[in-house]
Amino acid sequence: MGRATAAAMIPGLALLWALLQGGAALSTPRLRLSFQELQARHGLRTFRLERTCCYEALLLDEEHGRLFVGAENHVVSLSLDNISKRAKKLAWPAPVEWREECNWAGKDIGTECMNFIKLLHIYNHTHLLACGTGAFHPTCAFVEVGHRLEEPVLRLALGSLEDGKGKSPYDPRHRAASVLVGEELYSGVAADLMGRDFTIFRSLGQRPSVRTEPHDSRWLNEPKFIKVFWIPESENPDDDKIYFFFRELAVEAAPALGRLSLSRVGQICRNDVGGQRSLVNKWTTFLKARLVCSVPGIEGDTYFDHLQDVFLLPSKDRQSPLLYTVFSTSSIFQGSAVCVYSMSDVRRAFLGPFAHKEGPMHQWVPYQGRVPYPRPGMCPSKTFGTFSSTKDFPDDVIQFARNHPLMYNSVLPMGGRPLFLQVSSGYTFTQIVVDRVAAADGHYDVLFIGTDTGTVLKVISVPKGSRPNSEGLLLEELQVFEDSAVVTSMQISSKRHQLYVASKSAVAQISLHRCASHGRACAECCLARDPYCAWDGATCTRFQSSAKRRFRRQDIRNGDPSTLCSGDSSRPKLLEQKVFGVEGGSTFLECEPRSLQAHVNWTFQRVGEAARTQVPVEGRTEHTAQGLLLRRLRRQDSGVYQCAAVEQGFSQPLRRVALHVLNAAQAERLARVEETMPAAPPGPKLWYRDFLQLVEPGGGGGHGGAHSLRMCRPLSASRPQPPEPQRKGRNRRTHVPEQRAERGPRSAAHW
Ligand SMILES: *[C@@H]1O[C@H](CO)[C@@H](O)[C@H](O)[C@H]1NC(C)=O
Ligand SMILES: *[C@@H]1O[C@H](CO)[C@@H](O)[C@H](O)[C@H]1NC(C)=O
Ligand SMILES: *[C@@H]1O[C@H](CO)[C@@H](O)[C@H](O)[C@H]1NC(C)=O
Repeated sequence: MGRATAAAMIPGLALLWALLQGGAALSTPRLRLSFQELQARHGLRTFRLERTCCYEALLLDEEHGRLFVGAENHVVSLSLDNISKRAKKLAWPAPVEWREECNWAGKDIGTECMNFIKLLHIYNHTHLLACGTGAFHPTCAFVEVGHRLEEPVLRLALGSLEDGKGKSPYDPRHRAASVLVGEELYSGVAADLMGRDFTIFRSLGQRPSVRTEPHDSRWLNEPKFIKVFWIPESENPDDDKIYFFFRELAVEAAPALGRLSLSRVGQICRNDVGGQRSLVNKWTTFLKARLVCSVPGIEGDTYFDHLQDVFLLPSKDRQSPLLYTVFSTSSIFQGSAVCVYSMSDVRRAFLGPFAHKEGPMHQWVPYQGRVPYPRPGMCPSKTFGTFSSTKDFPDDVIQFARNHPLMYNSVLPMGGRPLFLQVSSGYTFTQIVVDRVAAADGHYDVLFIGTDTGTVLKVISVPKGSRPNSEGLLLEELQVFEDSAVVTSMQISSKRHQLYVASKSAVAQISLHRCASHGRACAECCLARDPYCAWDGATCTRFQSSAKRRFRRQDIRNGDPSTLCSGDSSRPKLLEQKVFGVEGGSTFLECEPRSLQAHVNWTFQRVGEAARTQVPVEGRTEHTAQGLLLRRLRRQDSGVYQCAAVEQGFSQPLRRVALHVLNAAQAERLARVEETMPAAPPGPKLWYRDFLQLVEPGGGGGHGGAHSLRMCRPLSASRPQPPEPQRKGRNRRTHVPEQRAERGPRSAAHW
């Protein structure tokens, strides 16, 4: 509806093709760091309990430096500074009778009939509220946690066990979405064993429970709840609203489209106590609107309809946080997108026309008739009217509210399109958290996106053209889990600069920044465009907005090192190398830029010539991600090859390789030397000098010994390789030399 007419709801393949062609659909991270690399060099810490799965509920307690984790049969308290140490655990299994009942009901005793802790909230200074599936018998309890980390307390409060129906899901595969406001819990959940009665429910506290109208598909139609937030509407607490984010089957979709799932934002008033004569103990202020996340196109929009997660980024004004969301597609192609919404756009949709359908044979249209007063969706308060309770609402208001929960207009993302998207990347976004960072040239939002393959993407939002349009830049791809598990939950501590990530198999902790990994040059640090990092004159290091001006070499907006790093004398030394090849054979000149977004430019200067030319891309040369392969070598290939990393128009020389192509006679002489060589040759430099004297009598000294010298062997040589990070989609050393490979792998020079 609105922009989402039925015909346009299915993504056009032509459009998808255009997306892919445009190259805007798949970004490469600048850095990709493996689990092993993160663990060895970047302080990745992990936590897991023996024989315990499903770390799904994460609760941050910044004040006391604790991270609470809900998992299978356990609640755990960890240190926020280091989750690998000092775990305190509370075992909370489901009673045997419940597990047996669960098993009789046809569920799996080992994987389903357990107490999966789904929900953790800070209740007061000494207690948490925790709820779990209790082997398809939802249960809640207060957990005593003490005031401080040092206090060795983590236990179920005596006599506090109570029914968790309407709070925790029954089924471990379902998510719990809830928020605790004061003593009251607002939750979106399936409230029955069969998973058919879906409800938005208020429980606990002193007031009677309130819920949605049961089994009315206009209110909720097989929803999957994602997140719930409490957001003030004005200075008057009577106007406070609770916002629910979920996806559900679209009642408004044309029947021809089948079971179409759409994403929604729903609202209720915190002071809603239900109606007096009808809608008793049911919401009278419930409204919902479609959340659209789509790429506009000439032939129709491409929709990302599967809401996966929502993160509320607070602003100075408590009433207007930003809503960062991740969506995936549910059909045809694999794609994910980040869309950002403003609260004013959400509120505008709820103030717009109501969706109306006259009868089964009619279309959904904007309601044109008289809307009763007070307008449904408004909270009873002094701000907007004279009603003090929803029980005082006139009957026509209640009737209208019951029949018109859906708004006609959708909520569109800021800028009218996704901030960031990935199509055919091999993974789907599942979680998002966001940090607002002060950089030298303003504030930037840094997004951490969890995926279904155990990775976290770090993306920054940078202005594109005129504000408020922004685009996302993919800085890092971090493999935070060893086993590619789905990221199920994330929490961020801006204060401690740490990210906490949960999956089925473990919890991981990683710093928000790894400045040194960007490189050892000013240009690399600048090109990285990482708002957490700056060039301090000697290294790429943590950016401190309070530090002196001259220590702030950082340009997030443009990432242009030519101005920022000009006159920087700390440019790292060019790596120099000597390499030998033999006529007719092959050789490989290694050069691999740190940045996956850089491309490599090879230039060549023939021996005795001044001109420097670009190495052609075709013929006997092959450019690979790891370097340059030269085949069928000729004498005139001898010369100096220089490799430069080119990124955003900025070229940085990385290596200079002097290639010396030998003729067959020289190679033969070498082969004879090889046969008389002792099994363990002396040091490489000595070996090299001896060799030169043999092949070019008197010519050895001219090459100078100051360079880092290395004999070039064909690539099948059994030279030990330095440990390499795993790189998806990159094959190292797949090529073989074309000649003389049969001489055996033992020798140091068997071409
Ligand atoms: C975290 O704690 C573990 C276990 O005590 C310890 O081995 C590790 O070195 C700690 N890591 C850091 C970065 O402090
Ligand atoms: C916190 O709540 C629990 C459960 O209702 C109660 O037993 C405890 O006394 C409360 N603690 C404080 C400090 O209010
Ligand atoms: C590669 O380097 C040469 C020589 O420095 C230069 O003329 C050329 O423009 C560079 N190519 C690219 C794509 O940067």
